[in-house]
Amino acid sequence: MDPLMILDVLSRWVHVGTAVVLVGGSVFMRYVLMPAASTTLQEADHDALRQQLMARWKKYVMIGIVLLLASGLYNYVKVAIPNHKGDGFYHGLMGTKILLGIAVFFLGSALVGRSAKLEGIRRNRARWLSVLILLAGIVIAIGGLLKVAAKGTPQQIPAPALLEVPPEGALLG
Ligand code: HEM
Repeated sequence: MDPLMILDVLSRWVHVGTAVVLVGGSVFMRYVLMPAASTTLQEADHDALRQQLMARWKKYVMIGIVLLLASGLYNYVKVAIPNHKGDGFYHGLMGTKILLGIAVFFLGSALVGRSAKLEGIRRNRARWLSVLILLAGIVIAIGGLLKVAAKGTPQQIPAPALLEVPPEGALLG
């Protein structure tokens, strides 16, 4: 296999794998852990658990954002742009996907961060985490749509010399 193709596959694995971990973790936290913790824990224990969770989850969020951005940009610049030259449908939707992805990164960082200006987002954690999950769902849906509905034009591969038609009579000696 062409070494550059290995890089293409690796960057896709990293992109999709990171999305699975981050979005899966967010869904678990919002719809399983948060309701279970608020119905069983006292205020002080709940605060301590939240503090511990955020300190650990923050590392996943920060590394995840770097991986999604790096692999996404690689996929777009190296693979998608050459295969979708002049395809307004593809690039319009991809632009929307990238902007929504940046909104998801912002909310994810605000929820695990400490900036006083973004305290309002952390005070309404459940609501903003739901918004994050909804936006991430749309980002994934657009990614899937582009993969299936916008096929693109694969770059031309020159026919191997062996497949060239021999001149008339050449095979008869
Ligand atoms: C919340 C952030 C993001 C999530 C959850 C996400 C998720 C995904 C998923 C699941 C796919 C695979 C779709 C499929 O094959 O069915 C995908 C494809 C892709 N993503 Fe992302 N992504 C995010 C952000 C980004 C960013 C910031 C960029 C670019 C800078 C990007 C660029 C791409 C590209 C180029 C593809 C390939 C689309 C194609 O097959 O033509 N993504 N994304």
